[in-house]
Amino acid sequence: MTEQRETLIVMPGSSLQGEVGTQGRLSLPGDKSISHRAALFAALAEGESEIDNFLVSGVTSAMLNALTRIGVKWEIVGELLRIDGIGFGNSGREASKLSESLLINCGNSATTLRLLAGALAAMGIPAILDGTAGLKRRPMDRIIKPLNQMGVAIEATNGCAPLHLKQSAMPLQAIDYMLKVASAQVKSCILIAALAANGKTTLREPGQSRDHTERMLRSMGITVISKTELLQDDRDCYITQVNTKPPVSLNPLKMKIPGDFSAAAFLVVAGLICPGSKVTIRGVGLNPTRTGLLDALDRMGADLRIDNMVELNDELIGDIYIQSSNLRGIEVNGSLVVRMIDEFPIFAVAASYAKGRTVVSEARELRYKESDRISSLCRELKIIGATVSEKPDGFIIDGGENLRGGRVEPHGDHRLAMALTVAGLNAQRPVSVVDPDIISESFPEFYTIMEGLGANLRIEYRDSNNEA
Ligand code: S3P
Repeated sequence: MTEQRETLIVMPGSSLQGEVGTQGRLSLPGDKSISHRAALFAALAEGESEIDNFLVSGVTSAMLNALTRIGVKWEIVGELLRIDGIGFGNSGREASKLSESLLINCGNSATTLRLLAGALAAMGIPAILDGTAGLKRRPMDRIIKPLNQMGVAIEATNGCAPLHLKQSAMPLQAIDYMLKVASAQVKSCILIAALAANGKTTLREPGQSRDHTERMLRSMGITVISKTELLQDDRDCYITQVNTKPPVSLNPLKMKIPGDFSAAAFLVVAGLICPGSKVTIRGVGLNPTRTGLLDALDRMGADLRIDNMVELNDELIGDIYIQSSNLRGIEVNGSLVVRMIDEFPIFAVAASYAKGRTVVSEARELRYKESDRISSLCRELKIIGATVSEKPDGFIIDGGENLRGGRVEPHGDHRLAMALTVAGLNAQRPVSVVDPDIISESFPEFYTIMEGLGANLRIEYRDSNNEA
């Protein structure tokens, strides 16, 4: 018996036209990273927070469900999230009494697991943090080691979830810690735990990862120092510091979340590779620690323009104007890799349509994302006709021809599913993406927006062995 699988069929040949705004049917969802932080930090604050344009999706539901498990009350009305903070202080300790070794399911969301581990350590709440098979393959030793140094006991199997977090003696210990790989999730986990430590915690990173945690904590009344120092080998070292004396209290949030740059990235590349396209995306988060893809596309010759830049709740936002362009291959390495860490699946699609060679190096970290993004990306792009080869720390693409089309698997990775959909928009034959439902982990409105711009997509149920 053949299995029927949901399949997204991408019919090539449309040009994309129109505007994605900040309200209404075609509106960009709120930023995933900022939504996670806003929900968690509001829960740790004293008083009621109101967060507008909150991303309602698979991964953020994992965070909200986890907050419910530790006794936090919240409600969502449209895109407005209201949260009653329980604080680090007395009310937080009360919650911990109710919740002896709570089992918390973090779903598919490493951000939920890693940030929550820091928060639970700071609140002294013992818990078991678990999730999907995909989450269980993500490395957690990177948070276990520094949390151990802070006095938090954690048991894990081979450095992966489930993590058994024990109740720790308060206050935690302040640490001076060098991250092996630049990571905002690790930095955020430790910064949150550091709010329950006595003294100065210093985190050093070999590249500047996204700084939403630092910005949001500042807006909630915490002094967070960020600076750069030169290492002996002349490389930059990014330093983040907090100096605390518990009990710490966070002011509640009243904020609007910017549109998600990492969601906009799919629409940007779609507009660039489909001939005759003209697309505007408004209200996009343009925090410079996130916008490496724009720099890469600019070097590839993309016709992109940014306008109406303003600051919204300590984050930059603006509008992006896109016109279809003839792209050329480039090299990507160094600090640019960190600034576009989530954009490699869609960048690889741009590189497949660009003339000449694109070489990505120093990006081994891609192997530890929602899928091993070096191997899954190379494998699936090859199936639809790209000339691509895998390197231990990146990939090489010789682009310029329209991709052939075919049937691809997203490997349980929402960004791979969206990138492959975009790849099909200018292919010679349809691209069929199986199990596309994974897209709703981060961008549930993806189909509606793509169709609204003119993409020809349809969902079918196909036999698992049926070619596109
Ligand atoms: C995120 C940080 C990045 C990114 C992830 C979200 C965050 O992970 O890949 O999608 O919200 O802090 P790393 O910090 O592990 O690089």
